Amino acid sequence: MARMDDVLYVNGGNPLNGEITVRGAKNFVSKAMVAALLGDGPSVLRNVPQIRDVAVVTGLLELHGVTVHNDAEGGVLTLDPSNVESAHVADIDAHAGSSRIPILFCGPLLHRLGEAFIPDLGGCRIGDRPINYHLDILRQFGAEVDKRTQGIHIRAPYGLRGTKIQLPYPSVGATEQLLLTAVRAEGLTELSNAAIEPEIMDLINVLQKMGAIISVDTDRVIRIEGVPRLGGYRHTALADRIEAASWASAALATRGDVYVRGASQPEMTAFLNTFRKVGGEFDIDDEGIRFWHPGGDLRSIVLETDVHPGFMTDWQQPLVVALTQATGLSIVHETVYENRFGFTDALRGMGATIQVYRECLGGHPCRFGQRNFYHSAVISGPTPLAAADIEVPDLRGGFSHLIAALAAKGTSSVRGIQLIDRGYERFQDKLSALGAEFSHG
Ligand code: EPU
Repeated sequence: MARMDDVLYVNGGNPLNGEITVRGAKNFVSKAMVAALLGDGPSVLRNVPQIRDVAVVTGLLELHGVTVHNDAEGGVLTLDPSNVESAHVADIDAHAGSSRIPILFCGPLLHRLGEAFIPDLGGCRIGDRPINYHLDILRQFGAEVDKRTQGIHIRAPYGLRGTKIQLPYPSVGATEQLLLTAVRAEGLTELSNAAIEPEIMDLINVLQKMGAIISVDTDRVIRIEGVPRLGGYRHTALADRIEAASWASAALATRGDVYVRGASQPEMTAFLNTFRKVGGEFDIDDEGIRFWHPGGDLRSIVLETDVHPGFMTDWQQPLVVALTQATGLSIVHETVYENRFGFTDALRGMGATIQVYRECLGGHPCRFGQRNFYHSAVISGPTPLAAADIEVPDLRGGFSHLIAALAAKGTSSVRGIQLIDRGYERFQDKLSALGAEFSHG
């Protein structure tokens, strides 16, 4: 049976109005925390949100001998890795918090301990989410990757050496794996077809502060000159552009008006263009961005998700809820993940007209075309949304369901809301600040 605090009863149909603040990006903060493992002195990270992913990575780092002090209110983390060698824990809990972060411990642990071990006692969970790029990268640096039934043993008895690598796809995690490994590897590393998301650029900022030598060239090429040692860093995390866009979509779907303090324009160009094309309005100042529904009809659009500088896959789910309120047919082609439209089942149950297709609709053929992946969606609107009982499927899909419940007239029950805490800081306080009506039963 679901815990009471894991269900939210949302009385929707009212616009969200008011102001909320976003802090540092989940998908940067967790990586900067791992980077602290590479230093031989303490690091200080500011603008850290209170989300479960930060708690999960804190737990992992502590397991490996890093002392972590968290001033949660002030958003300041102090990470001291001086005891990593003496703790000597090579086992990485790859399932911790069901996040992708643990795999990024490999490079730093190889540098510090000469080995890393990813237990896979559950059998298939690693296989569900591919880490082939990560393992290939580690191999190319000279690590020995030994897959056994108990897990994956990785050793670098002779150290790690710089190398030339071309990624099959500009994967965010694989690019981070390479950076965290190359900075202390011997000699030069060159990565082609790298991901260049703003969160990666900020990780490069952090590594440079620690003493790394990294250049980002044109055409997705990153070059790293390995150095023998790195120090700590002091850094303020860039804003969470996924959270900012999520609240913007919530404002649009509920015909509301939300000022997102902390939201930053340069990392959100593609989102802002799309928001405007749909008919939403925004106003940017030095402190944040105000997003609102100007009244009248929203417009349907054709949209493809893509790697940076394209429209982020993580922006897609919240925006689709707003698209159910736009007039006409919208087409959304998801090209980053093969299976990110599962959340639309619940929206259909609430009255939305959404059909998913295996074909690449929307402009460009992608690597998921001609295969069995329902990765294009056609949304026909506007359709009023009706309250329903919903089960949260994942972080972004879950927030989208929450938006749908806020837009729907009547009382919806949203189950599994703890998943949302993984990446949305104090979202219930923020909902209250925006005038949302909800209770725990
Ligand atoms: N891929 C492989 N093999 C690999 C690695 C990736 O095939 O070894 C594939 C993936 O299956 C996917 C594509 O490459 O189809 C892109 O995955 P990527 O590696 O870029 O994603 P990630 O690093 O696992 C991060 C974010 C995601 C975000 C993506 C894309 C974190 C912790 N996660 O994931 O964020 O969607 O980049 O921008 O940084 C979220 O915040 O909810 C979230 C899922």
